[in-house]
Amino acid sequence: MARAAEVEILEGGGSVAVTFANGETCRFHAVWLRDNAWDDKTRSPGNGQRLITLGEIPRTISVVSATLAGGQMQLTFAPEGRTIPYDLSWLERHAYDRPAGHTFRGWMAEDIETWDAGLADGVPLGDFSAMRQEPRALRDWLRGVRRYGFGKITGGPIESGALFDVVALFGYVRETNYGRHFEVRTEVNPSNLAYTGLGLQAHTDNPYRDPVPTVQVLYCLENSAEGGENMVVDGFRAAERLRDEDPHGFDLLTRYCARFEYAGGSGVCLRSRRPMIELAPDGELVAVRFNNRSAAAITDVPYEHMAGYYAAYRRLGEIIDDPAMEVSFKLSPGESFLVDNTRVLHARKGYSGAGSRWLQGCYADKDGLLSTLAAMDLKDREAA
Ligand code: FE2
Repeated sequence: MARAAEVEILEGGGSVAVTFANGETCRFHAVWLRDNAWDDKTRSPGNGQRLITLGEIPRTISVVSATLAGGQMQLTFAPEGRTIPYDLSWLERHAYDRPAGHTFRGWMAEDIETWDAGLADGVPLGDFSAMRQEPRALRDWLRGVRRYGFGKITGGPIESGALFDVVALFGYVRETNYGRHFEVRTEVNPSNLAYTGLGLQAHTDNPYRDPVPTVQVLYCLENSAEGGENMVVDGFRAAERLRDEDPHGFDLLTRYCARFEYAGGSGVCLRSRRPMIELAPDGELVAVRFNNRSAAAITDVPYEHMAGYYAAYRRLGEIIDDPAMEVSFKLSPGESFLVDNTRVLHARKGYSGAGSRWLQGCYADKDGLLSTLAAMDLKDREAA
């Protein structure tokens, strides 16, 4: 447990400086500390939810006394006159007075690793039965999915609806106008190009929704047709390549919104206005949207930037189409794969009418998947 060597009140009580056992000194504002108190009047002991609003904390809040003992810091606040304990380990984990780790646009979280065709042998692979029975097998696979935005599952049942059992491993199905799930096989009068034998350019699904479905599962039930391999491309790697080659083009795709639309079904008119490469306000790369079939007229780019925008859009497409970027595979019945639809593009190569190909697909939510993984990690930490 971290033990502070020192605590000092600064700025007349407006903040305190804590020196942790490793010698690092971090400052904390009084208002931040009061807002992040974990006593039972500030946070519910049962569910950890905050019981007070910021408005209940006086604007003039200050620290009038700070002491250290046994891994804890005791702070007394004025004008409340309350003394509240703080866990030093928690403070050390949540310190914000540190140099910014990321200064460039398009940075990514540490648990993300981008990839190209070289990933072929490193694809996160899970056995369906093992993941159902053994939490560790599921946790390892989910960690791989978090890292690479993609994973395969083998050994599942060959029966219609089995994809719901895959989703049940980590979360819940997200229903859309396509239904709880959709069939992917040749149709005579297709309502969507995904249901024909044509090859498709790598894309993210449904960028015309806001929010987009954040996870897609495709589950194979029959696959004896010629061709029809699936392929995936890491949209984050594609964005990185564009940024390295053409920082100005990357900037244009992040700063201006594209538009996407789907109105191919009765009673459906889905529209969104979002960038193809989305960054958080601090520059973190958070999502890629790329889908030539549902791209609508782009009208949010100023005239003087439109030519440059189109050049960057074209180049991003070329990078995505580069075979050096793709991992391809042919699914056998009972096998499936999952993509983070905010990051990894998927595609299908063309297939012939000979034989049959039947996949079922559905959407789910990435926050639920990450929640399942985080809860497992937490349980492991507590057991350790
Ligand atoms: Fe798709």
